Amino acid sequence: MQLIRWTLIFLLALIAATPLLMAQQTPTPSKATYVGVKNCKMCHSDIHKVWMQKSHARAYELLVAVKQDKNEKCLPCHTTGYGEGGFRDAEKTPELKGVTCEACHGPGSEHNGEGKITKIPLATVCIKCHMKTDIH
Ligand code: HEC
Ligand code: HEC
Ligand code: HEC
Ligand code: HEC
Repeated sequence: MQLIRWTLIFLLALIAATPLLMAQQTPTPSKATYVGVKNCKMCHSDIHKVWMQKSHARAYELLVAVKQDKNEKCLPCHTTGYGEGGFRDAEKTPELKGVTCEACHGPGSEHNGEGKITKIPLATVCIKCHMKTDIH
């Protein structure tokens, strides 16, 4: 009984604390738009260098390699912000090819080095793309 009681109390405390935990994240303002990875590179060149070495930077090239880079089923996970005012096509939005900074940190037009961007992306951001699908 004691155990059940404490488990319940713990769960309730967790639920109560959720808004607090969420508030620690700087929310990305909803009117922000995607600015592309070159913008971020200007001020975060070290992080950009690390990102370039990871597969996220090349996610779009995977589609090109299998000639699926126009397939709208693939674009949401292999580009940044597709269908959300971000990536449209490789000519119009070349800086939103692949999984760029803004795919995880949210659109950055309001940031410019003064907060207003998600500092630590939640796991839910990763899960949007890293979930089991019947695609592959
Ligand atoms: C729900 C998100 C999602 C969608 C939709 C998606 N991908 Fe992917 N894709 C991923 C992730 C995540 C990885 C890397 C991890 C992995 O291998 O599962 C990946 C890896 C790949 C790879 C390299 C690894 C491999 O399995 O060969 C190719 C090629 C690829 N995707 C092609 C495609 C194509 C083509 C489509 C559309 C028909 C597509 N993807 C749709 C998320 C997605
Ligand atoms: C795949 C998702 C993802 C991508 C892509 C990504 N980040 Fe992050 N970033 C994170 C996560 C998760 C954290 C928090 C954990 C950590 O620090 O590693 C973080 C932390 C940060 C921080 C704050 C932490 C620190 O070291 O001061 C900055 C600044 C940052 N990222 C900038 C960038 C920039 C600029 C890019 C693009 C060149 C980028 N990120 C691409 C997920 C991502
Ligand atoms: C004009 C320069 C500049 C540009 C452009 C810029 N940043 Fe920043 N960014 C900064 C500075 C400076 C900080 C540190 C601010 C601080 O410590 O509060 C920062 C902090 C961050 C953080 C951590 C936020 C926090 O609350 O500590 C993230 C994440 C981040 N930037 C991502 C990005 C992304 C993604 C882009 C591109 C969309 C970008 N930045 C473009 C200068 C810039
Ligand atoms: C917009 C979709 C998207 C988001 C958001 C995203 N990823 Fe990915 N991720 C991918 C794709 C697509 C690949 C495959 C790229 C490749 O293999 O070239 C990948 C590759 C990876 C890999 C390398 C896997 C391998 O087999 O090489 C890791 C690790 C990873 N992602 C972790 C994360 C984490 C952690 C987050 C959240 C902080 C995250 N991703 C967010 C789409 C995404």
